[in-house]
Amino acid sequence: MNFKVPRGTQDILPGESAKWQRVEEVIRELCRVYRYDEIRTPIFENTELFTRSVGETTDVVQKEMYTFTDRGDRSLTLRPEGTAGVVRAYVEHKMFGVPDQPVKLSYIGPMFRYERQQAGRYRQFVQFGVEAIGSADPAIDAEVIALAMDIYEKVGLTDIKLVLNSLGDKTTRDSHRSALIAHFEPSIHELCSDCQNRLHKNPLRILDCKKDHEHPLMATAPALPDYLTDEARAYFEEVKKYLDVLSIPYELDANLVRGLDYYNHTTFEIMSTASGFGAITTLCGGGRYDGLTSELGGPDAPGIGFALSIERLLLALEAEQKTLDLNNQLDVYIIAMDAAAKVKAVELTSTFRTKDIATEIDYVNRKMKAQMKAADRQHAKFVIILGETELQEQAATVKNMTTGEQQKVIFSELVTYLQSQL
Ligand code: HAM
Repeated sequence: MNFKVPRGTQDILPGESAKWQRVEEVIRELCRVYRYDEIRTPIFENTELFTRSVGETTDVVQKEMYTFTDRGDRSLTLRPEGTAGVVRAYVEHKMFGVPDQPVKLSYIGPMFRYERQQAGRYRQFVQFGVEAIGSADPAIDAEVIALAMDIYEKVGLTDIKLVLNSLGDKTTRDSHRSALIAHFEPSIHELCSDCQNRLHKNPLRILDCKKDHEHPLMATAPALPDYLTDEARAYFEEVKKYLDVLSIPYELDANLVRGLDYYNHTTFEIMSTASGFGAITTLCGGGRYDGLTSELGGPDAPGIGFALSIERLLLALEAEQKTLDLNNQLDVYIIAMDAAAKVKAVELTSTFRTKDIATEIDYVNRKMKAQMKAADRQHAKFVIILGETELQEQAATVKNMTTGEQQKVIFSELVTYLQSQL
């Protein structure tokens, strides 16, 4: 039997993982300056947490969750997204009580959705996300968006755009909902069974149906912005004002309703505009979810956040043919020509590593020439050769692999020499 990774998952192999680490470094550094502290929540949660928050009529809950019953007969679900768990933790640990609101949290980790596999769509993928909970200030909406944009800028992406919408408040949603029902009801039989089911339960979901999105009724559907209340409109104007202050350009899209139920007011997505990018162009999605904390049993605390997948970020870099600045080069490869030299090589390897010099030696008894080839393959910046003469003279032969220059350096000065050259 040949084993393969399960469909929709992937192994991140050496070489590729260096890119992940670099992206994670950029992200962690930005979280530090933006002040989003990391929170780590479980990979599985009680199923009801997701049906309550993400919403019963969403594709995620209806078709994509990995749900199982544990040995204690509890229904658990591998998290399809991070917001539900983070908001649960905010309520459970009474973070609404800490003096500094909003509480600004970040997370990174695997999420699971049973989706059809295609480029950029996996069944296990890694989301980085942030949640700012406890503020209804439009300036925090702009900050969250700015952080997402900064991540893409710092990794070197340029072909991206921000798309923005407002879903308004409860009054907005109620009047829009009635308009949607009136619009779709007479011809609902032309739409798929999911849409038919959603007509009265959650007509907004019809607008992001993956099957019927080309149907003519979609284009003529009542647009949310026409139903915004004065307060919701004013809030959205403020968000746009702050984005202008931060010089973040955006496009408005009245059809940006997002695929999860907890949103209201600001919603946004960041898309790749690179020509080589596949059919799925959304890199990042987020929005405001006032009311979610009380839905999950806590006091009312407004919140906003976003999530992006590292997989799609890396695909976007590839589409733009951008390379990351990786910090994974080998500094020194030590070649030992005989058994006595090997002992010295092991000792020097350890000394160099304590001085943060990335060092490698041979562990499969290769001849000198084969060790040299290995050093080349690993792009070593320096090669140190140790043989009988070197041991006698207490000095190593050091070859600079960039210039080809070779010179003798006495053992006690090797570290200082390498540090001055690297
Ligand atoms: P979402 O739009 O479902 O939102 O997912 C956010 C991002 O996760 C997407 O833009 C995409 O980059 C990535 N993503 C989603 N599904 C897949 C997949 N199957 N394969 C690869 N990447 C994927 C949320 O999850 C919300 N929790 C975001 C949020 C946080 N809203 C407020 N706070």
